[in-house]
Amino acid sequence: MKNQVTINKIIKPFNKKIEVASDKSLSIRCVMLSSIAIGRSRIFNLLDSEDVTNAIQSMRKLGVKIIKRKQSLDVYGVGINGFKIKKNIVINAGNSGTLARCILGLCSRVEEKLKLIGDKSLSKRDFSRVIEPLKLFGVNIESKKGKLPVTLSGTYITRPIDYLEDKGSAQVKTCVMLSAINTHGITKIKAKKSRNHTELLLKYLKYPIKIKHLKSYDLITLHGVKQFNSFNYKVPGDISSASFFIVLTLLARNSSLVIKNVNINSSRAGILKILSKMRAKIKIINQKNYRGEKIGDIKVKSTNNFKAIKCPKSLNSKSIDEFMLIFLVAAKAQGISKFENLDELNKKESPRLDIAINFLKKLGIKVVRKKNDIKIFGNPNLKLEKNYHVKNFLKDHRVFMMTTVAALTIGGNWKINDKDSIKTSFPNFLTITKKLGAIIN
Ligand code: S3P
Repeated sequence: MKNQVTINKIIKPFNKKIEVASDKSLSIRCVMLSSIAIGRSRIFNLLDSEDVTNAIQSMRKLGVKIIKRKQSLDVYGVGINGFKIKKNIVINAGNSGTLARCILGLCSRVEEKLKLIGDKSLSKRDFSRVIEPLKLFGVNIESKKGKLPVTLSGTYITRPIDYLEDKGSAQVKTCVMLSAINTHGITKIKAKKSRNHTELLLKYLKYPIKIKHLKSYDLITLHGVKQFNSFNYKVPGDISSASFFIVLTLLARNSSLVIKNVNINSSRAGILKILSKMRAKIKIINQKNYRGEKIGDIKVKSTNNFKAIKCPKSLNSKSIDEFMLIFLVAAKAQGISKFENLDELNKKESPRLDIAINFLKKLGIKVVRKKNDIKIFGNPNLKLEKNYHVKNFLKDHRVFMMTTVAALTIGGNWKINDKDSIKTSFPNFLTITKKLGAIIN
């Protein structure tokens, strides 16, 4: 089957209610934390995608019994430092940076040799960011040039650390927190603000963790090796997946959409703030709190008078996975939008800053780049008529979905490669898009 879609028509006006894929960050964290809880946990509404399947398979390799039922995933947790593994196991994290980086923390005290591998995209990404703190814990860990494969060669004892996480990476923060859980004593992390799902889950589980909020950092104090009980959890919708439909609706003609039950945790939902500053018509209704996470329905309407933004740097990590979509809106806005310090964007499944800039230029948008700062010269009348072929060989789901949104709203005749990449985070993306009326072949 061809791994490509063709789009030759912009989407007609629509007025619908949808639900999107479950939160990927929370799904992976639930699978990992339930594996080290004591007893059977039940996770409902877990994301059904390749990244999460790889997380489940990895936990099974660590000796955790996991049963996939119709309504739930049942995980029989083995307790902290309770993994039972054979010698020389290989764990394949596939495309998932979150799984790969966090599992190294989770396994910091595994006593047998363990090798971590991943797909082509993951094998290009940096692991020195987690290897360095794990070495401070005393973990025996090796890799060549900070890339996969990474080998844990068996560690009997770890010591608590004081660590400064200054990239604003939730994956690094979570890796350190998970290793701290395996380690007797108190670990202190000063972490630049980033998504806080792990902290919220641990608080909900009554794990001994304290967090002091400073302006741009959080001070996290964690006591190691305090066993915790199994839990039930119902995973809400993913704001990153919802964002493709938010922007699709905003850029479509005379359309409106309600996206139900989305996690709008403020450490994740920076895109809502950014787009609102750009005059997007977005409202949150039916807001509630679930186990510390903020959840709501997102109501969005097409908008045609976007204004440019000078994006506050404090929103960078809160919208890190959504910038390519935000750039699309900036391309249609009145004025020059400015974004700064986007170096982390080039460290994702593919170098997204480079890819987005090339993409915008292809659309005829002027972009000026200075290191990792960019200016986008918006054109509210942007309409495309030419032929476009997007070749995306690095397996980046978000590049595929962003391009599809552009093709369905700005015009032109498109061929977009790498359709299968959506399996990692949002397998029914195209099905939902077609239900809204999109013609995609
Ligand atoms: C994630 C954190 C972010 C994000 C990724 C998911 C997580 O990565 O880009 O898609 O679940 O912790 P970084 O921690 O590298 O910023």
